[in-house]
Amino acid sequence: MSFVYPASFTIKLLCMLRRPRRNRKNEVVRNLTQETWLSKNDFIFPLFLCEGENKKVPIASMPNIYRFSIDLLLEEIDACRNVGLKAFAPFPQIEENLKDSIASESYRENNLYVRAIAAIKQNFPDVMLFTDVALDPYSSDGHDGIVKNGEILNDETLEVLGKMALAQAQAGSDCIAPSDMMDGRVGYLRKILDENGFTQVSILAYTAKYASAFYGPFRDALESAPKFGDKKTYQMNPANAREALLEATLDYQEGADILMVKPALPYLDVIRLLKDNFHLPIAAYNVSGEYAMLKAAIANAWLSEKAILEALLSIKRAGADIILSYFAKEIAQIL
Ligand code: PBG
Repeated sequence: MSFVYPASFTIKLLCMLRRPRRNRKNEVVRNLTQETWLSKNDFIFPLFLCEGENKKVPIASMPNIYRFSIDLLLEEIDACRNVGLKAFAPFPQIEENLKDSIASESYRENNLYVRAIAAIKQNFPDVMLFTDVALDPYSSDGHDGIVKNGEILNDETLEVLGKMALAQAQAGSDCIAPSDMMDGRVGYLRKILDENGFTQVSILAYTAKYASAFYGPFRDALESAPKFGDKKTYQMNPANAREALLEATLDYQEGADILMVKPALPYLDVIRLLKDNFHLPIAAYNVSGEYAMLKAAIANAWLSEKAILEALLSIKRAGADIILSYFAKEIAQIL
């Protein structure tokens, strides 16, 4: 039994001037017409750092990601350089007994973080270091700002952020990345850096950082979860996109060099919004929960590994020029 074409069918075919499939007919034409490409140059690799020697501690909710002591962190960075990664964002895990309510460890001379920054830049002057400015890893309250009577103080926090940023710049940071979401911090940090001669140290602003449930594994990694409440009085409401334009306008006016949206995959619309409205490079943070989610599905064989490239490509397609991702190393190996 053969298929019988309806009488009108061939006539319709003749009228079909546009056949999008022609541009998909082989790999060469598919590559020629591909609109978005991922490259090793797109990625910043976040790294976790801990005190001690010869330490490589797995993080349960983030398969294949570890906390490294400085010596092994240097080896990890070297391995990443060998697959073509050149940009890194280290985050420190601070020992509980060093935490206090004003995060004084964050700017103490010779603290873990500044020692790591100095060691990395000394060993690998060719890498670009994006260093984290926020109180939470050092705060006994686990918040990004100073807490008083259950409130997160804004202007008092800026002072600590300034000291922290300065300590990092002095250690050799190439770019300060405030992830705290206090008002006015970009302008405040720019001023402090400039006054101290660090006019060439950049600022990557966590512009639209949402109060997200996707940060869980990161807080496991650093043991930095808030001891009470949540971060909704400083991080943005996930329901809001227009408000990201306000944050971006301020960060732009205050001197940010790069604007960032965080998380990435649940906020692709916000990435596109900032891309279309600002002429600064746009970064997106493919956060720990996005990593854990895909890794878990792949480990269960519920998804193929190809889902990783597709997810990262979607972040680029949405408008991100730069992607912070825990997938950076494994992706660099196949790109
Ligand atoms: C805190 C900070 C967080 C992340 C980066 N910096 C977590 C938070 O705001 O609680 C999350 C990154 C990730 O989930 O990968 N300043």
